Amino acid sequence: KPLKAHNTLALKASASAYVSAHSRDDIVAALDWARVEGLPVLPMGEGSNVVLAGDLKALVLCQSEQRIQLVAERGDTVSVQVSAGYNWHALVGECLDRGWYGLENLALIPGQAGAAPIQNIGAYGVEVERFVEAVHGIYIENGEAFSFSTAECHFGYRDSVFKRELRDSVVITAIDLRLSTRPDTHVVYPALQEELDARGIETASPADVYASVVAVRSRRLPDPMTEPNAGSFFKNPVIGGEHADELHKAFPQLPLYELDDGTVKLAAAWLIEQCGWKGRREGDIAMHDDHALVLVNRGTASGAELLAYAGRVVASVQHRFGVALEMEPRIYGN
Ligand code: FAD
Ligand code: EPU
Repeated sequence: KPLKAHNTLALKASASAYVSAHSRDDIVAALDWARVEGLPVLPMGEGSNVVLAGDLKALVLCQSEQRIQLVAERGDTVSVQVSAGYNWHALVGECLDRGWYGLENLALIPGQAGAAPIQNIGAYGVEVERFVEAVHGIYIENGEAFSFSTAECHFGYRDSVFKRELRDSVVITAIDLRLSTRPDTHVVYPALQEELDARGIETASPADVYASVVAVRSRRLPDPMTEPNAGSFFKNPVIGGEHADELHKAFPQLPLYELDDGTVKLAAAWLIEQCGWKGRREGDIAMHDDHALVLVNRGTASGAELLAYAGRVVASVQHRFGVALEMEPRIYGN
């Protein structure tokens, strides 16, 4: 099965088997089949955070179930269960329409609901962990069901138990979100605040936040349909306070953000831009002209070519700033 249309970097790769599951029974049957065949199972959403570096000797398992269900109402909140196959941005819009607020800052993030808890998707000052009540799924090894509470998910910045201890061992089938029926807006992120100011909005409604986030993202981030990419290719590095002080003295312009535990988050895009990568094209890979954190496939680049380019970026940032960049997307097939 060719996967070029199933990853937003449009990398050419194929999977030895592929299934699009519409229900829980389909998933269980696919897992049983893979066990008999001795094939590993790779659950995949919309392929917006993966690098396919070669062909996959695996059963790629996608989900297409579109289910959204009101589970409970408590005071000013609702609990909503969403099937993993639901498109994330469509979900944000649907919840806004129904008067279930909170997700607006996360509008236009590509991918499926089932993938949202994996890296604890975040944007414009909000991370999905704030809303996650439970994550439901199935263990690949034995087909048993599980449900994890928020605490059991061990959420962090672009991180969760699903990227660590449970890496490659579960299929997420649904998530429970707790949303507010009272407007609950978060507008501290500078780019969002600037957009609201430019629109002359003083007290932003959830619909204002949604529209502003969509506008800012549409201007800043390339659309994978026309410029294949995987969003931020590197995480923003988190370093110790002393190291941050040294860097700040040497590079006063460096944007940094102090975290509660005394560590400091740096803007990877700034570090990469300073090293001269912004807009630089090598072969069919380029760092985007408008955002120095987004690698774009400008033609028929291979996963290996992409990773070699990324390696050169990492080396130059390490050399100039002594900071190690970590990739955000998962690499498969190498
Ligand atoms: P995939 O890329 O298909 O999968 C990602 C990983 O999750 C893989 O390891 C896969 O095996 C696993 N996985 C997926 N679904 C399941 C499942 N049901 N069960 C078990 N494992 C599963 N991310 C942000 O956090 N913030 C942003 O602002 C943001 N902006 C982006 C902008 C662009 C233009 C792009 C292309 C990406 C951006 N991303 C952002 C990254 C991406 O949108 C998220 O990581 C998203 O959650 C990935 O969803 P997906 O369905 O495409 O997952
Ligand atoms: N900057 C530069 N050069 C650039 C781009 C940005 O110096 O080319 C500087 C900006 O001046 C700003 C800082 O970098 O001070 C941060 O830029 P931006 O607001 O664009 O956010 P980011 O840190 O680059 C992160 C997330 C995005 C998320 C946005 C908005 C990571 C790795 N990336 O990007 O998530 O949408 O914030 O919240 O945390 C993704 O994960 O794929 C993703 C797109």
